[in-house]
Amino acid sequence: MRVLIIGGGGREHALAWKLAQSPLLTELYCVPGNAGISTLARTVNRDPAAREELRDWALEKKIDLTVVGPEAPLVGGLADSFRERGLKVFGPGREAARLEGSKVWAKNFMVDNGIPTADFAVFDQPEAAHRYLRRRGPGPVVVKADGLAAGKGVTVADNLEEAEQALTRIMEERAFGEAGNRVVIEEKLEGEEVTVLAITDGREFIVLPSAQDHKAVGEGDRGPNTGGMGAYAPAGVLTPELALQVEQRVFKPVLAGMQARGIDYRGIIYAGLMINRDQLHVLEFNVRFGDPETQVILPLLTTDLLPWLDRAAAGCLKPSPLPAPAAANRHAVCVVLASGGYPGDYRVGVPISGLEARETAAQEEVAIFHAGTAFQNGELVTSGGRVLGVTAWGDTMEQTLARVYRAVGQIKFEGCYYRRDIAHRARKE
Ligand code: AMP
Ligand code: GLY
Repeated sequence: MRVLIIGGGGREHALAWKLAQSPLLTELYCVPGNAGISTLARTVNRDPAAREELRDWALEKKIDLTVVGPEAPLVGGLADSFRERGLKVFGPGREAARLEGSKVWAKNFMVDNGIPTADFAVFDQPEAAHRYLRRRGPGPVVVKADGLAAGKGVTVADNLEEAEQALTRIMEERAFGEAGNRVVIEEKLEGEEVTVLAITDGREFIVLPSAQDHKAVGEGDRGPNTGGMGAYAPAGVLTPELALQVEQRVFKPVLAGMQARGIDYRGIIYAGLMINRDQLHVLEFNVRFGDPETQVILPLLTTDLLPWLDRAAAGCLKPSPLPAPAAANRHAVCVVLASGGYPGDYRVGVPISGLEARETAAQEEVAIFHAGTAFQNGELVTSGGRVLGVTAWGDTMEQTLARVYRAVGQIKFEGCYYRRDIAHRARKE
């Protein structure tokens, strides 16, 4: 099977790593990829936003399956234009991608389909939104820009002042452009966050191991939010009872709601959940694999992933002659090594050392997923804020943490920053 992965971060490196293990794979391409991915796939420097050109290229290369990593090409309709020409794509079309592309659409969809979520109100005029906030009073509240804002459109405000500042930034200063034409203002929920992903063909779904990411830059979950400083799987807070609830009260109604709208959803449904004892609420949906959750979920799978992505893309997930994707009863942890200064300004082009030593040592059950790396005159250098996702897996959390931080200690680049407390919630268990 000739496979194309779209994207160039840690998530796509983890996907390439897993798919490269499949006996069904004959050729792997990645657009645009990164330095790490280029050791597993042919990386091609093309713009995923140029849908038609990319589609023609995929036709020419006789790609059997395209797996889309990031949300922007999905929201932009890449899957639709590929499918129009008969190309198989793992990733939903533009209409289904509104589940991530518009928070207003997603909230209304959840209400229509009885999916538990925080109470909310929608505004398209800043004056009315400010009035509403003042009427609500001084307590905490969450303000969300409607459209895609690279993960920066949500403010969890502790008080009215912070909420009003967020609103002004979104609706008046237009910090996120058109994504701020509307806002969702919602109740702040308390509890622990969990990510649960399901592979779907639009009718059936298969749930993958749960995970928890770490969005805050600082230890103890302090400081500004990032694209993710690490993750672990599985997330113990998701008890078997809660996992069943996620299937019944989240994934099933999502698919029923999509079908009722005549939408064929093929790809990942990412449910970002808030768990408070036995209560669950959906914070957000995404329409793609999580980053960095994918880096810890895929190493736990003991079965081939490629046939499942292919079957979902073809619309025939079940019944299947294959054994269902199985997860080992093990643990995985990913620690992100970031450039100093991230998520603010940081340097790029900084040489990275220590990866070769690790490779020669060929440590088992460790993988280094590249997020922001490039080759410059044959030398591996940093090219982004999040540089590497060092991942390890093992039988116990203790063993896994020792492995992951030992591997982290071997890698060096100037200004390297990482959190030492990844999986702190699981350590307490
Ligand atoms: P979203 O993109 O909607 O998931 O929001 C990003 C992050 O903001 C989530 O992962 C949560 O950490 C936080 N968040 C969003 N909505 C709420 C809420 N209603 N209550 C508490 N935290 C929230
Ligand atoms: N880890 C958060 C996300 O993928 O959106």
